[in-house]
Amino acid sequence: MKLEALVPQLRSMFPALARRMPDGSPISFFDGPAGTQVPRMVIDAISDYLIRCNANRHGCFLTADETEECFATAHRLYAEFMGVTDPDEIVFGPNMTTLTFQMSRALSQTWQAGDEIILTRLDHDANVSPWVLAARDRGVKVRWVPFRTDDLQLDLHVLQSHLNSRTKLVACGAASNATGGINPVAEVVRMAHSVDALAYVDAVHLGPHRQIQAKVWDADFVICSAYKFFGPHVGILWARRELLERVEAYKVRPASNAIPDKWMQGTQNHEGICGAAAAVEYLQELGKSLSQGVAGGPREHLTTAFAAIEAYEDRLTQHFLTGLEAMDDYQLVGLGRRHLERPEYQGRRVSTFSIRHRTKTSQQLAEALGRRGMFAWNGNYYALELSEQLGYEPEGMLRIGFMHYNTIEEVSLLLQTLSEM
Ligand SMILES: Cc1ncc(COP(=O)(O)O)c(C=O)c1O
Repeated sequence: MKLEALVPQLRSMFPALARRMPDGSPISFFDGPAGTQVPRMVIDAISDYLIRCNANRHGCFLTADETEECFATAHRLYAEFMGVTDPDEIVFGPNMTTLTFQMSRALSQTWQAGDEIILTRLDHDANVSPWVLAARDRGVKVRWVPFRTDDLQLDLHVLQSHLNSRTKLVACGAASNATGGINPVAEVVRMAHSVDALAYVDAVHLGPHRQIQAKVWDADFVICSAYKFFGPHVGILWARRELLERVEAYKVRPASNAIPDKWMQGTQNHEGICGAAAAVEYLQELGKSLSQGVAGGPREHLTTAFAAIEAYEDRLTQHFLTGLEAMDDYQLVGLGRRHLERPEYQGRRVSTFSIRHRTKTSQQLAEALGRRGMFAWNGNYYALELSEQLGYEPEGMLRIGFMHYNTIEEVSLLLQTLSEM
């Protein structure tokens, strides 16, 4: 079964999609890259936890035991989501930024003056500043990987030329939250490992669009955020067991020294973690419905769901790009149709688009769309390096994101509105 056939039913599972503007007109949520809407089952999981088993951990009574079961389920589901087998390798935290600051502090303890790390100009600042600051504190040199000007893809030749025996870490996004371009993660990891550097992969933007493949990529760390893929505001880090065990965590003394608890600082967002687990279950249920009874495990259901999401979002992408590229007043920042027709760009973009208008600012565009019930983001969305390199600061760009709950009709209406503006 194709996802198209399920979209009306899926949309009815997301209560927010029924919201209307004050004048009664419908709302189109194109702000998914800044945070998606959530299905009812995620909302229910959060409130069920608070109603039924709200307790702190490690108590000797029923609700504390149930809380442990919720955590065990969440760790198992996120191992499946990340494409790994060991639930103890999953660490929950407030968000990707906080977890990355925490991990950068811990990892950099062993860096020496004269060591080097490699960052990219395409990354969200949450995969930049934590490393820049850790490098500053340890006297470590930061080397930058630029993007190519014609397609805004990472220049891997420069990455190759930066690698040497002093390289400690390569931090790289799986997909850009500004251009929607997908990076060749496995290749970046292979390059990092060729000099025994660690590879830290920010999969926050990839999360709602493609299956995360931590093991296939052979990464050392992969991090994502549930609010970007239909869950609540919780960050999730996967790291290889050996690293989680070996690296010293900054932690309070009474807290466990065993993984994953060693890395999960303070009292966690229990209800949020239950909701985040339900977001994975939502995707697995979607995969199950699409495979119509064909047997498969939880990971296979996720594979089915993401294959269908990719095909569906590609259709929205083609429709949007065809309409946008016919309008002379707009400039697309990232891969357009002329790229996507070429085999080397197959599968290299998700349905996130940054655009600029010949005369209007991105804020004017976002406000005008917002008044018409089309919610889109403007600015640099913390893809600060990219925005600076392209000379777009301080105004930035307009970002439109399509999720699998958006429809082709919404895209048509958006194109019509953009053209009228
Ligand atoms: C690509 C990317 N990385 C990291 C982040 C930061 O994630 P969090 O809000 O969970 O800290 C974002 C948030 O927008 C993002 O888009």
